[in-house]
Amino acid sequence: MAMTRGQFEGRSSGCLRKYRIFLVFFITILCIQVYLAYTFITLENDNLDSSGELGLSKYDKNDGQLKLSKQLKLPPDKVVNNKLNNHVNQNKTSRIKLDYNLLNFTPICDVTGKEAVSAITRAKSQICKELIVNVTCMGLQGTLYPKRLYSSCPHSMGFNKNPKKIGCYQDDKTHRMLTGFYTVLKSNNSPEQCALLCLQYGYPYAGTEYSVECFCGVEEPSQTKRLLDSSCNMKCSGDPRQSCGGYLAINIFKTGIKSFKAQEARNISTKIAHEKPARIAFLLTVNGRASRQVKRLLSVLYDPSHFYYIHVDARQDYMYREMLEIEKSCRYGNIKVAKGPGLRHASIWGGASLLTTLLSSARKMLEYSKNWDFLVNLSESDFPIKSNKQLVEFLTLNKGFNFVKSYGREVQRFISKQGLDKSFVECEARMWRLGDRKLPQGIQIDGGSDWIALNRNFIEYVSNPKPDELVSGLLKVFKYTLLPAESFFHTVLRNSIYCDTYIDNNLHVTNWKRKLGCKCQYKAIVDWCGCSPNDFKISDINKIRNTIDKNLFFARKFEPIIDQRIINYIEEYLYPMKFNNINRANSKNSYWQSLYHHGDLSPPVDDVLLTITNSLVRIIYSKYYHLNNNNYNFKLLEASVYFSDNKYQGILILAEASNKIIESSTIYDNNVNYYPERLEALVLSPRNFSTSKLWSNRILNLHVSTDYDQKEQTFRNFLSCVGPLSSPILSYEFDLSFVTPKNLTIFWIDTNNYLRDVNQIQVDETTLIGSIKPQLDEPLTIGKWNIFILADNVLIGQVNFFVTPLSFLNNHEINIKKIRDIHNGPINQKKLINNNNQKWINFLKTIGINLNENYDNNSNNIIEERTGDELNNWIDEFVKKYYKIDKICIANEFINNNVFKKLNLDKCTQTNWSSLSPDPKADINNICYT
Ligand SMILES: *[C@@H]1O[C@H](CO)[C@@H](O)[C@H](O)[C@H]1NC(C)=O
Ligand SMILES: *[C@@H]1O[C@H](CO)[C@@H](O)[C@H](O)[C@H]1NC(C)=O
Ligand SMILES: *[C@@H]1O[C@H](CO)[C@@H](O)[C@H](O)[C@H]1NC(C)=O
Ligand SMILES: *[C@@H]1O[C@H](CO)[C@@H](O)[C@H](O)[C@H]1NC(C)=O
Ligand SMILES: *[C@@H]1O[C@H](CO)[C@@H](O)[C@H](O)[C@H]1NC(C)=O
Ligand SMILES: *[C@@H]1O[C@H](CO)[C@@H](O)[C@H](O)[C@H]1NC(C)=O
Repeated sequence: MAMTRGQFEGRSSGCLRKYRIFLVFFITILCIQVYLAYTFITLENDNLDSSGELGLSKYDKNDGQLKLSKQLKLPPDKVVNNKLNNHVNQNKTSRIKLDYNLLNFTPICDVTGKEAVSAITRAKSQICKELIVNVTCMGLQGTLYPKRLYSSCPHSMGFNKNPKKIGCYQDDKTHRMLTGFYTVLKSNNSPEQCALLCLQYGYPYAGTEYSVECFCGVEEPSQTKRLLDSSCNMKCSGDPRQSCGGYLAINIFKTGIKSFKAQEARNISTKIAHEKPARIAFLLTVNGRASRQVKRLLSVLYDPSHFYYIHVDARQDYMYREMLEIEKSCRYGNIKVAKGPGLRHASIWGGASLLTTLLSSARKMLEYSKNWDFLVNLSESDFPIKSNKQLVEFLTLNKGFNFVKSYGREVQRFISKQGLDKSFVECEARMWRLGDRKLPQGIQIDGGSDWIALNRNFIEYVSNPKPDELVSGLLKVFKYTLLPAESFFHTVLRNSIYCDTYIDNNLHVTNWKRKLGCKCQYKAIVDWCGCSPNDFKISDINKIRNTIDKNLFFARKFEPIIDQRIINYIEEYLYPMKFNNINRANSKNSYWQSLYHHGDLSPPVDDVLLTITNSLVRIIYSKYYHLNNNNYNFKLLEASVYFSDNKYQGILILAEASNKIIESSTIYDNNVNYYPERLEALVLSPRNFSTSKLWSNRILNLHVSTDYDQKEQTFRNFLSCVGPLSSPILSYEFDLSFVTPKNLTIFWIDTNNYLRDVNQIQVDETTLIGSIKPQLDEPLTIGKWNIFILADNVLIGQVNFFVTPLSFLNNHEINIKKIRDIHNGPINQKKLINNNNQKWINFLKTIGINLNENYDNNSNNIIEERTGDELNNWIDEFVKKYYKIDKICIANEFINNNVFKKLNLDKCTQTNWSSLSPDPKADINNICYT
């Protein structure tokens, strides 16, 4: 979202002048901070692009403040900073107190941590609050998970009781003996503590120095630096009976692990003869409504010798039904869908439930099919970039190995960026952050990407219903961990007997564009700022071409509504014969995605969508029926969005008219067949904006809708429907010729000509595409709104949108009380008066835009309370104005030929736009057909 700034604040008055120096100082500091944060983040992002796979960003705007990672580069003298932070934190902690009146239970301990208190306060249900309290308390008491775990990796078991001492060495401020990691353990330094820390971070050597310092490193200390043991004579800060080095003298210990090295994958050049081809079990964890893309993915991946297990998020009714159809249609029986409460989970981004999902699915997959060698995890947004044959060849050569991708840099950085050092708890479909925690000691921590390919033995080991101490301990830890699937398998692998099967490659190429993908877009579901990769577009084709000689077999993400051309390109490249045989040109470039299906109970539908699509049904049928004739019911069956040639074309409305009389009696009236029963219509939603002459080439688009996706820079509300309770957003796109930065002012004016908000944005060549979210008083005034855009006090663009009355609320017909509440505009219309800002209103008058200034006197004294048909007619008036019914086809399977003649309509299956027209690339009959 672009920066927006309300313009209604009072001007700073003379008395502020006194504080100006203060202010300037403060702002300077702030700017420096922001600049530092910015450069740090940018640097970070660029680095990460090349190095890997990680769903994380290190700053967290939750408290409205930027928090930099605690572990930057860690020069030894930066300790002061940490102290400062701690001090600030403590101060904050002491201010926040849990309000016990919020709770209808007695907490099992006194919760004082700032983050936990905040989570308890924000959680809505008592059960969630109680869970947060319980987990916080158990965390404090240390009963949530084991404090110490033991590795069973034969050559990296770690030390048992005390780390093996190798001597006292001379250290040097500029050339440290151990260079991997450094920290100060102010009150608890000891050989054991320091070695456990270094072990956790994967270092073979640990060193204590100057009583409080702990160093970790990879290289064996040089014997030339050896000192007499008596030079290391300072007492440990955590144990005065032991010595922790001296001034520039370091006690060095072995942590008992070897420096970790991942295995190299065997590649095609090292052929093994007569190995049985690897069999793959694909786990598809799917979400959303892109069922045609999932079918397409399956038809590309399908092979009778592999196994396919589909887990649909527990809330997604539509996708679930679609997947059940596939299961039913596949005659080889090797496609299975997860069913039932223990096997179908609802997961959220980063949620602890992701791991539960994977493990419960894995158990079921082991049970279903006895002969697969690898489990490969995919989602609806993955697509193969190599043929099945190549994948099988590669995995056949690497049977017994496990494919995961590691962060690839310092573990300690990973831990803090990933929030592994924080407890999280999942409830109310949110990951709540509870505060700091200590990970179990004695094992190495590792993590990176959650896209995996694991072999059967390892899956049997981790998903064993009676896990060993390591796995059961880690399962407890990861139950309270953000993004558990990004570290759990890595950590188990490194600390178990499977430690030598680790290949640092997740077989995936991921389209990271962190400038777009790291916008804290998951704030609503997790107390953390996460990143997501972008969808591949045809312009990213080189990223995929460059993987030809690499052991990469899948890419992500893909979404046909963002770009289907690249999916076509890849499929045609992999399977030219099949692709071109089954796909006719027009269907190849078409895509349909469901928006609504009458059979869905979950997730809830957007009420505005429901209102408008039902209105469209009335409008469509009014062409053929007298709507007032009470003998008929008109029912919306499905709404879909239709793309062709990679462009949004419109919305498809599939509906049905049923004759009540026929249903209630058995009399069959031949005439009825002359009325179309099922119809599908293509509805266009013209996107309307205008520009001044001078700006006609510079403004490429202005559009108002809701659900703006900042990562893909597009609206997800395809219908662009806005209701009184929606949060409309203006998106804009300017031409590249925009070289000189311009300040634009944006005015939001409602149907009664009241100014509702003013925003300012600065546009330059780096911000040509963006969006603005105004601060509008709810409920929004019903009717047509205008947005005016000014640059240098000249009107350069204009766009309008309409706020529709609602006929549904919470997916039920709206009642009269709610109608009065919602259809009468904002109650609080005083915002503009309180801020004595006439300037804009007066200014707009000078350019011919006369606004209503009479805020006190509600000009519209009539209370809006239309219901029933009256309400529907009102809605239909708007809908007719803003949407256009372009084409209609008959969707009945069997129908009297006279009807076609009489109505002059096509059969839907014979059009190329209807959702019922052939779509061979996503046809389930083409999946198990080999
Ligand atoms: C909190 O901070 C203020 C000033 O910043 C300081 O005077 C006070 O002693 C601090 N309180 C605690 C409990 O640290
Ligand atoms: C919290 O702990 C108490 C005491 O152990 C237990 O009775 C209660 O069921 C727990 N509540 C939740 C939500 O876990
Ligand atoms: C295949 O293995 C050889 C020898 O280990 C190596 O030089 C080559 O780079 C590998 N190729 C790939 C695609 O990994
Ligand atoms: C598997 O795929 C899903 C996405 O569908 C992902 O979120 C999950 O973390 C993946 N990995 C594992 C190990 O579960
Ligand atoms: C735009 O506004 C900013 C801050 O309000 C100001 O510093 C800048 O000079 C303005 N730019 C132009 C081109 O008017
Ligand atoms: C769209 O723009 C055209 C031409 O500017 C105008 O005639 C029409 O009324 C507009 N449509 C809507 C729905 O505002």
